This record gives sequence, C-alpha cells and structure tokens, in this order.
Amino acid sequence: MDKLIATGGGPLRGEIRISGAKNAALPVMICSLLTSETMTISNIPHLHDITTIMELLGQLGVKLQVDDKLTIEANATEVNNVVAPYHLVKTMRASILVLGPLLARFGKAEVSLPGGCAIGSRPVNLHIKGLQALGAKITVDRGYIRARANRLRGARIFMDLISVTGTENLMMAAVLAEGTTVIENAAREPEVIDLARCLKTMGADIHGAGSDEITIHGVQRLGGAAHRVIPDRIEAGTFLVAAAISGGEIKIKDVKPQQIEAVLDKLREAGASLEVGDDWVHLRAPRGRLKAVNIRTAPYPAFPTDMQAQFVLLNSIADGTATVVETVFENRFMHIHELRRMGANIQLDGNTAVVQGVRKLQAAPVMATDLRASACLVLAGLIADGETLIDRIYHIDRGYHCIEEKLSQLGAVIRRVPRNYLERKSA
Ligand code: UD1
Repeated sequence: MDKLIATGGGPLRGEIRISGAKNAALPVMICSLLTSETMTISNIPHLHDITTIMELLGQLGVKLQVDDKLTIEANATEVNNVVAPYHLVKTMRASILVLGPLLARFGKAEVSLPGGCAIGSRPVNLHIKGLQALGAKITVDRGYIRARANRLRGARIFMDLISVTGTENLMMAAVLAEGTTVIENAAREPEVIDLARCLKTMGADIHGAGSDEITIHGVQRLGGAAHRVIPDRIEAGTFLVAAAISGGEIKIKDVKPQQIEAVLDKLREAGASLEVGDDWVHLRAPRGRLKAVNIRTAPYPAFPTDMQAQFVLLNSIADGTATVVETVFENRFMHIHELRRMGANIQLDGNTAVVQGVRKLQAAPVMATDLRASACLVLAGLIADGETLIDRIYHIDRGYHCIEEKLSQLGAVIRRVPRNYLERKSA
C-alpha cells in the first residue's frame, strides 16, 4: 500500500478544476440498472470507489465502456445476477444502493450487509424499512439482505433519520413502483437532486427533490439518458481550506458555489476573503492568523460532516478556541488523535471537540482512518514543520481525484512512495 510524504512549506497558490462528485456519480451509475437502454454519464471522477462500483455493475451483467474523457456508457439489458457480494460492499457502503433498483426492475436482490465502519456503526435499517413499506419481503440471512417483490407499490414513507443514500435507494425503487410514493424527512443534499434530475431525464415522474418531501409517481419503464455529474462540493471545500491554512490564494473552477454556502460562510468568518462567480470561487487567506470558528455538522444545507475533519485542522492552527460538534456520525473524530501527535491541542468530549489553536504543527508519521480524515492529515502535513508520512492512503484514493497532482499544481511538496519506502531508505 502506497504512502504519501507531505513537506510543510509555503502558501498554496494557483487555479484548479474541481472533479465530478463521487457521491453523485455512484447513484447515477447505479440507476443504469433501471433501464435496458444505454446511459451516458459524463464528468465521472477517477477514483477507487468508481472502479469498485464498475466492478459490481459488471458482475451483475451491466456492460460498461469508459472513454479517456471520463465518460461512461452503461447498458443493463442483460442483467444476469442480483447479488452484491461482501468483498465489494465492505470496501464501499454505497454498494447498498443497488438494492432498490434491482428490486424495482427484477423483483429480487441480495446485498451483503456492509459491516463495521471506521466512522460509526452506519446501519441500513432505514433502507430496509422503506423498501418493506413499498411491499418488499426482506430477510437478513448469513450476512446478506435478501429482498423479493412482485411489483413494488407506492407508499408514504417517513424517514426516522435523514439519510442520503437511504433517500436515494428509495427514490430508485419507487420510480418503477405501482402508484405514488411520498418520502417524508428526505435528504436535501445536492447529490439527491442530481439523481432526481437524472431519473427524470430517463422518464421518471419525481417532484420535490431538494425539499424534505419527495413525491414519485411510478412509471412502467424508464429509457436511457445522457447525464453530467455535478461538481464535488467536498473536494471544493477541501482545496479552499488547503489554501486558507497555508496562507495562500486559490481559484477553484467548475464548482457550484451555492452548494457550499455553509463552508464559504465559515471560511469568511475565519478571516479569508472570498470572491464568488457563477462557477468559480477565489479565496485569499488573511495576512495574519485565521480566526477559530465554531462548527456544528448536520444534514444539508447545514455544515457537512464530510468537511468536519478539515475544519478541525483549520481550528488547530487558528487564533483562539473553537468547538466542533459532530451530529451526523458517531466516532468520526479519529483524525483528532493523529493531529494531537502533530502537536494540536484538542480535547474530546463525546461528540464535541474543543480545539485551541497553536501557532505551528510538527511533522509526524500518521495513519489515515477514513476518507475525510485522510484529507485532513495530508493538509496538516503541508503546513507542519518537517516531513509527514501518511500511511493507509487507500482511503484518500477512494474519494479524491489525483490529490497529490492537484496539490502539486498549487506548489505543494508532496509525493507518493511505495509501501516499503522506509525499509528501503534505512537499508
Ligand atoms: C452519505 C455520503 C457520505 C456522507 C453522509 C452524510 C454517499 C455515498 N455518502 O453517506 O459521504 O458523510 O451521506 O452526509 O453519498 N443511518 C441510520 N440508518 C440507516 C441509514 C443511516 O441510522 O439506514 C444514520 C447513519 O448512521 C448516520 C445518519 O443516519 O448517523 C446519516 O447517514 P446517511 O445520510 O445515511 O449517510 P450515507 O448515505 O451512508
């Protein structure tokens, strides 16, 4: 497994293009299971999670073609298998998203339970409960969710908790159901809206995506469509933080600034100057230190949990003390233990981190634990004194398109080294 070595240095400066959103691309690729016609999906990011979903769709019988501009053609005419196996679901929980479409089009699906996860228990009870409300018979047997249905029937479903993939799974199931489905307390994330937009182009009858009540009138069949995936708002936020904490200046292009307002507000509050265009954001760090900012994560449009780790880092070198409250996932503070090893002053109390800013972090060997935690550690390495070795970076490759190349374009000193790098160096 490769590692990254980040060297703390000067300010990051320059322009970069933001890639397509992983969390939007995955459900859109999966919704190709709902039609026998070809789907053409563009602006796909080059990531491990995308390769995993391609492997899963391929195993189900979907024919996939990728061109060098990262456009995928998917054709699910000959689906001959409805099983999502453990080894794929465990590496990427979003595989659970095949459950709804397989059930809706083929009347059966078997999906492995995802198992444990570094950022909390992350159950799938809401997916199961919602599909049962649509008439599916579901059993959990030997680690697999086995679902059967003749034709799903529309129903009113109240989501006890706001769930992004839960909402997406039920939307994809309901589009081919008989009658009307109403999803109450639905997730309002831009990725849910993007999926609805794609399903509508395929012929689905969906209203209200982006609000907390989504209404779906089932149709008999869906056709193919061409769809461009929205930009990755978390990648955008991560690069803005990178420029801000390094005292630099960045223009990010191909973004939808209205989808990152909560993050932009916090960057302004921290003292960064921002200029915002239709599809770009320009950030300039303040001359002195950033100011500490309180954060409370919550479902969209509030501050995203996927930006929490990056703002813990921002606060750890800012002027003052701030609290960061994580309300979406339990146990999503693994990066804090690593940041402390780099000299950060952070107290943890349940789901609240109290971060007292220090002037400088020091390099240390650190271990990535999940996707966003690893991004935070890479950025920490770029502002710390010395060389930080970041281990287990497969997490970062799951979700960031060529992170070291993009950071290098901004002047960062960062390189990928093979797994046995340290042994070779000392030999
Ligand atoms: C999605 C995103 C992930 C992001 C998260 C929250 C994708 C592929 N991933 O994950 O990057 O961090 O939204 O914005 O889009 N829950 C249950 N039962 C369920 C489902 C969820 O209790 O059946 C709980 C979870 O444990 C969590 C909360 O609901 O505490 C929200 O999770 P959810 O929105 O479902 O996250 P994901 O869709 O898995």
